[in-house]
Amino acid sequence: MKLRRTRSLVGYWHEGDFVLEDYLSAKSSDEDEDNAVAVDEDALRLLQRFEDWTDPESVLDALSGYDPASVRTAIDALADAGLLHTPEQAGQEDLLASEWAAWSEEARFFHFGTKDAVYIGDDAEHRAAATAVALETGPPPPVFKSYPDAPRVRLPRAFLPLRRDFDEVLLARRTHREFTAEPVTLRQLATTLHYTFGPMYFVDAREYGTLMMRTSPGGGARHEIEAYVGVLNVEGVAPGLYHYNVEQHALELIDPEFRAGHVDRLGFGQQMAVTAGFVVFMTALVSRATYKYRHPRTLRMILLDAGHLAQTFALVSTATGLGPFQTAAFRDSEAEAALGVDGIAETALYLIGAGRPAGPVDGHPIDMSVAASPR
Ligand SMILES: Cc1cc2nc3c(=O)[nH]c(=O)nc-3n(C[C@H](O)[C@H](O)[C@H](O)COP(=O)(O)O)c2cc1C
Repeated sequence: MKLRRTRSLVGYWHEGDFVLEDYLSAKSSDEDEDNAVAVDEDALRLLQRFEDWTDPESVLDALSGYDPASVRTAIDALADAGLLHTPEQAGQEDLLASEWAAWSEEARFFHFGTKDAVYIGDDAEHRAAATAVALETGPPPPVFKSYPDAPRVRLPRAFLPLRRDFDEVLLARRTHREFTAEPVTLRQLATTLHYTFGPMYFVDAREYGTLMMRTSPGGGARHEIEAYVGVLNVEGVAPGLYHYNVEQHALELIDPEFRAGHVDRLGFGQQMAVTAGFVVFMTALVSRATYKYRHPRTLRMILLDAGHLAQTFALVSTATGLGPFQTAAFRDSEAEAALGVDGIAETALYLIGAGRPAGPVDGHPIDMSVAASPR
């Protein structure tokens, strides 16, 4: 029976051993296991010989200087450990190779390696154990981030009434890519930031302290996402880059020189971001989430949280008469440098923004009336 090196292997050092993990093989979501197997140099050399479907006998012949019985034992051990597969075992990895080919090893390892994580909280005992582990590391991290020494703009709490019918707002929301030169009003900015990122309620989460609740759901109410506002064209606020202090509903100045040219560079020249009234970089403050959640699936949770906030932002800004946009295309490391965050403890995730829409705000796609041929 021919064998081939398992296609879904990633190697890394773990507690002093070099291990190979088959991220595609099924894991339990009840017990912690990672399908990682320690390998030495000889095992790696042997695996190298099974790059494509290979008869083990031909490998025995090629390694004639070695004791054939020991080579056979080693090949059997690699197959038993799941590092070599038979054609019958290779269906899933062949499907992966065709369906996920465009996304590189990193995306495959991230998605499948974090699948089937043992999630805390399926019973009271698990939850209590997870809480005890969290508390052992110290008190919960602060719910709010602030720059106490930064000059700040205290935003008005005279919010615009969000009294348009909900279905009207839902249907009016579109991604806008063209804006007029008319500035966003201070109340539009303040209203959008408040209802998207601000605390609406507080909850006593016992050992986890007092947590804020936003209008968007957030895994475990950790609300690890921070908002940094690039003000480009807002009535009554000097252009610049600010941190949105959600507790004080204030903009804390980070860079007074930040302008549309910076957005042009950070956003790969996307004109919707350059011509918007303001942009918002969302970051995740990792420790706020890891304090409670110590399994790799938390990364997925954080990405989902960012999506919820972006949708709320789109709806609220639409309700205030603005046109929103969102993009995953921005220069991560340069954006983090501009924000003054290290990219590790706090990492940039999403670029959104809004402006005075140049196009219609009725929600209809602009070319809706044009007949298109089926493709
Ligand atoms: C995660 C995400 C990333 C996006 N990235 C871009 C982008 O880089 N450039 C862009 O013009 N639109 C981007 N969009 C907007 C989509 O193209 C848009 O949502 C889609 O065409 C549907 O249009 P609608 O939002 O008006 O319903 C993005 C949307 C999402 C949700």
